[in-house]
Amino acid sequence: MKLMKCVKRYSTIFVADLTTSVGLFYLWNKGYKHFVPLASLCGIGASYLYCRLRSRAKISSNHAIVITGCGSGLGYSLALHCRELGATVIAGVLQMGCPGAKRLESEGVLVYPLDITLVNSVENFANSVRTILTERNLTLRCLINNAAVMIFGEFEWQTDEQLRNQVEVNLLGTMRITRELMPLIRAHFSRIIVVSSHCNEQPIPGVAAYSGTKAALSAWASAIRVELKKYGVKVVCFVPGSFVTESNILARQDEHFKTMKQSMSSEAETFYDDYFARYSQYFSSVAQGGNLEKLRDSGIYEAFEGALLDKYPSAVYTNEPWRYTIYHTMFRITPTCLRDRLVEKFVQGPPWKQDVAKSSTHQ
Ligand SMILES: NC(=O)c1ccc[n+]([C@@H]2O[C@H](COP(=O)([O-])OP(=O)(O)OC[C@H]3O[C@@H](n4cnc5c(N)ncnc54)[C@H](OP(=O)(O)O)[C@@H]3O)[C@@H](O)[C@H]2O)c1
Repeated sequence: MKLMKCVKRYSTIFVADLTTSVGLFYLWNKGYKHFVPLASLCGIGASYLYCRLRSRAKISSNHAIVITGCGSGLGYSLALHCRELGATVIAGVLQMGCPGAKRLESEGVLVYPLDITLVNSVENFANSVRTILTERNLTLRCLINNAAVMIFGEFEWQTDEQLRNQVEVNLLGTMRITRELMPLIRAHFSRIIVVSSHCNEQPIPGVAAYSGTKAALSAWASAIRVELKKYGVKVVCFVPGSFVTESNILARQDEHFKTMKQSMSSEAETFYDDYFARYSQYFSSVAQGGNLEKLRDSGIYEAFEGALLDKYPSAVYTNEPWRYTIYHTMFRITPTCLRDRLVEKFVQGPPWKQDVAKSSTHQ
């Protein structure tokens, strides 16, 4: 397993070295007797440098990792994964009694209540972290900002409260908990991982507000990466891929659609006609929750381990299926009119019946 991981991690340099060796062998046979040794030395130097840059730090039970939003989905899975790596995990959960919290406790994770939208809760959580680090003589290796909420539905339908909640949790909450832990982060030269999303690179219709918060989070992370570098603190963004049917992120979507419907004006109801019902039905069918399986995609953990352990980390670590790589490359290189159509195809939402819109505006 460890060997496979190693082979995968160094596969690029392995392939590059192999290709170069074949090329150099060919040149040697062609009589380039002075050039080949020189090129070989350069190649060895480059390979050594590459391996040094890709080297990873070790982790042990003396190292603490703090993760927010661990009751389900990615946070829950990363908490289990960090335990498997051997770290002491301090997990923040929104609801202490939830099944995820109980399961994490049974796996030896230290679980504490944390609502990142509440100043008191954030202060209490930070005090608990401080106490654990002191009592157990631990080094804080990393804060993983994972907690977030996402509400599906066109921007106009979302209520003030729904919009505020997404900004409060995803953006302000993340900033709040990070700032509260900054004295510890500075003292321990810790790393900050900010869980981002593909929506930050290509904002997606239906999650306009969520995309906005993730884009803002990414901008914030880029700025503090430079601010904190001089204090020995590294900041990394982690884009984990897509697993909406395996996490709780859409679990309350039905409730959210009901709230949108109740607050919709009669003018909007007439305008949208059956589109809202079809839309909510479509996305409610995707919505699941209550899954307590550790996320299965091994790519998530490979990318995450790079973000956590690489001695010279990149700014962003991404796990994405091929379909996403193709779409995102197309989004980047195509003109707006084509890109917008591609984005619609990517989301695959229910169609808006143009004839309904026309007839309702002419009434
Ligand atoms: N799911 C995806 O496909 C996907 C894709 C890209 C990025 N992401 C990112 O991955 C991260 C985790 O998402 P997920 O899919 O695993 O969703 P999830 O299962 O809903 O996990 C989010 C966690 O945050 C918690 N939370 C909500 N409000 C909070 C608050 N005010 N304070 C503290 N914790 C709070 C939730 O608690 P409750 O469950 O008790 O509400 C939940 O445990 C998010 O940052 C998300 O943006 C997800």
